[in-house]
Amino acid sequence: MSHQNQLKTNNPVHLPLGETKVNRNIVIEMVRVTEAAALAAVQHQGKGDKIAVDGAAVEAMRKVLNEMAICGTVVIGEGEKDEAPMLYEGEVVGSDDGQAYGPKLDIAVDPVDGTTIVAEGTENAISVIALSESGQFLKAPDAWYMEKLAMGPQYDISKFSLDMSTAEIIHEASKQKRTTAENIVVCVLKRPRHDRLISEIRAAGARIKLIGDGDVAGAIATCREKSGVDLLMGMGGSPEGVIAAAALKCLGGHILGRLHFNDDISKQKALAEGVENPEKVYTTDEMAGGEVIFAATGITAGAMLKGIHNVPGGKMSHSVVMRSKTGTVRWVEAFHKDK
Ligand code: FBP
Repeated sequence: MSHQNQLKTNNPVHLPLGETKVNRNIVIEMVRVTEAAALAAVQHQGKGDKIAVDGAAVEAMRKVLNEMAICGTVVIGEGEKDEAPMLYEGEVVGSDDGQAYGPKLDIAVDPVDGTTIVAEGTENAISVIALSESGQFLKAPDAWYMEKLAMGPQYDISKFSLDMSTAEIIHEASKQKRTTAENIVVCVLKRPRHDRLISEIRAAGARIKLIGDGDVAGAIATCREKSGVDLLMGMGGSPEGVIAAAALKCLGGHILGRLHFNDDISKQKALAEGVENPEKVYTTDEMAGGEVIFAATGITAGAMLKGIHNVPGGKMSHSVVMRSKTGTVRWVEAFHKDK
């Protein structure tokens, strides 16, 4: 059947992501999505207004997503519909309204990972998006937080678990790296809830890299030799955990995640919505299954990505886009002419 005929039928036929050339174009289009969000967010850098940072990025990201020839559903976004007017979970995006033949995708977005960073004008904020085939991302709207253990491809994740003590994790990591604990660096979000974890890591002989915000970039750092980071440990946002899983999958890294429910009501709600076991430890593939594409653009300068910066006549952006099917990792520097 020709595409023309497909367009006329009442039964939409969506080509699977993995079997079309469309996916290769999507890779590049994804960068346009995070670039747009980063360029919009940076307008509010250092102005102390987190809501304005997020609002500008969300609006810009949504506009570009709606120009893409996809039938996308936001499964990880800015929250539930009533709270989030745009990019809410369940929102359908893309120029294909489901009656044509663009690929049917699930979308996980974090228009700004590090809204406080941008508002305060400090380092390491990024805009991120991940796509996969329908039904492949872990959905847990009632669990805001996730306990995480992330590591690069050089580690055998099957030897780790979230039930091991911190000392056992550090010991296993140093054994696998064939080094001493002192050469293991663990990235941890600087939060009072992590005081004990930080003491345990230090007591086990390893070293810490504390980050103020942005644990998606923290998890990706475990896959980048130059970062000097071996592990990411601790509790961070659960949407960020799933998005990190998508990135790590493309890079051959690993993440284990256990949802954390603030109270019994949200746990019961999750059970009612299909989470089978609230105590379950999810693997990388269980959080981000199928063929995944991940893109990120630096908003403020960071270890992995340069931030948006002014050059004569416009702005430069720096992005990365990766695809799990091929393992391709592309770095994209773009000039955006002033309008
Ligand atoms: P936001 O940009 O949404 O504020 O998230 C930043 C972040 O640091 C995430 O990277 C991390 O997963 C989460 O916040 C941790 O949550 P909290 O700040 O509540 O500890």
